[in-house]
Amino acid sequence: MSKKAWGGRFTKSTNHLVEEYTASIGFDYKLADEDIQGSIAHATMLATQGIITVEEMDLIIRGLKEIKKEIEEGQFEFSIALEDIHMNIEKRLIEKIGPVGGKLHTARSRNDQVALDMHLYLKKWVKQLGIRLAELIEGFIQKAEENIDVILPGYTHLQRAQPILFSHHLMAYVSMFLRDLERLQDSWKRIDLMPLGAGALAGTTFPIDRKQVADLLDFQGIYANSMDAVSDRDYIVEFLSHASLMMMHLSRLSEELILWSSQEFQFVELDDAFCTGSSIMPQKKNPDVAELVRGKTGRVYGHLISLLTTLKGLPLTYNKDMQEDKEGMFDTVQTLDGALALMKPMVETMKVNQEKMAKSVKEDFSNATDYADYLVTKGIPFRQAHEIVGKTVLYCIEQKKYLLDLTIEEYHAFSDQVEKDIYEKLQPEQVVNARSSYGGTAKESVFVQIEEAKTKLQDL
Ligand code: ARG
Repeated sequence: MSKKAWGGRFTKSTNHLVEEYTASIGFDYKLADEDIQGSIAHATMLATQGIITVEEMDLIIRGLKEIKKEIEEGQFEFSIALEDIHMNIEKRLIEKIGPVGGKLHTARSRNDQVALDMHLYLKKWVKQLGIRLAELIEGFIQKAEENIDVILPGYTHLQRAQPILFSHHLMAYVSMFLRDLERLQDSWKRIDLMPLGAGALAGTTFPIDRKQVADLLDFQGIYANSMDAVSDRDYIVEFLSHASLMMMHLSRLSEELILWSSQEFQFVELDDAFCTGSSIMPQKKNPDVAELVRGKTGRVYGHLISLLTTLKGLPLTYNKDMQEDKEGMFDTVQTLDGALALMKPMVETMKVNQEKMAKSVKEDFSNATDYADYLVTKGIPFRQAHEIVGKTVLYCIEQKKYLLDLTIEEYHAFSDQVEKDIYEKLQPEQVVNARSSYGGTAKESVFVQIEEAKTKLQDL
């Protein structure tokens, strides 16, 4: 005979393979804190509403607190036969305080209980991730300020395009991270919704007070429809999609760190503490952390697609398929948290090779656009100027020279409009600082970005 909490209508015990297959305790033990917190609020409300007595509430809450302690101290024995965290805790409560423990589940179903736990869990993590992200942004802004005079080539098609400030490059990531933070905050009102009181799907016959539970657990909103409350996983999908965007940004950054720290670029050197070696090649210092951030981005995308796919065919309301919402979400918060936590000190401690970067902008044609712009200021239409510069560059390549190596006579062979000031105009610092339009790479424009980013961060 079945000893399950739901065993009443069963005549056989569950096949052990079924138990193993359907149990979620192997991962939803992570919801223990939230489950207990939710149960304490629920019991408090039941007593306030006269559904249980205050003495019963006291017993239940004391029991729950003891269970919390047992779990924290590793004394709690999780059982697969009890399926999930909710049943494990309830069973233990009844063991500890007797049949009165069975009153806790009055006016509640595991369907709204698990929904509540997931909301509480995500609220906790979104807060934590927001703090991490804000810290990362601060670190980047500081690095940008410290390296305000460093110039390196900016790329398109991974071909040198125009020189830029290193701080401008960092501030591009700050812009992305600020959007990420904004997105997290926007999603808050949908995470901050309280589902308890939905019962299994249709509400409850008991005179509950959902507002009290919401207040006790610090929720701003309450689900308006009980069927939606137990079926909704939109907020998790939304979180996974925001997490995917964040990982995508971190992955692009990782890719750049990997390239920049290669022998080919040598733009930065990652600190020893953030690299690993090779078991066979003694000379190696590998950017494993950046590579793993790039690599782990895939699994976060996977969790998003996986949950969307799980949900797409589900009829209302709860279906066991929805148990699959957990592992992906747990893994995502962990993966993202780890990436954010490591990225900050890795970038803070990396050495910026100013000389190597400077050499790269001198030994290339990334000032060619500025030469064309120069000709435009002399009254030559841009298309014509483009042609003149293109021919000059071709000449330089044949002569193994750069634009700044040309004599004024050589310039004149292509255009008689060129004057001596061209040598000044084509210097990397000049080229960078000429781009002083709003959002441009000139030092003054980057300072504006830094100030605006600081303000934005404060306001978020
Ligand atoms: N472990 C379940 C889950 O995570 C809890 C809800 C179970 N509800 C039910 N009606 N079987 O989805």
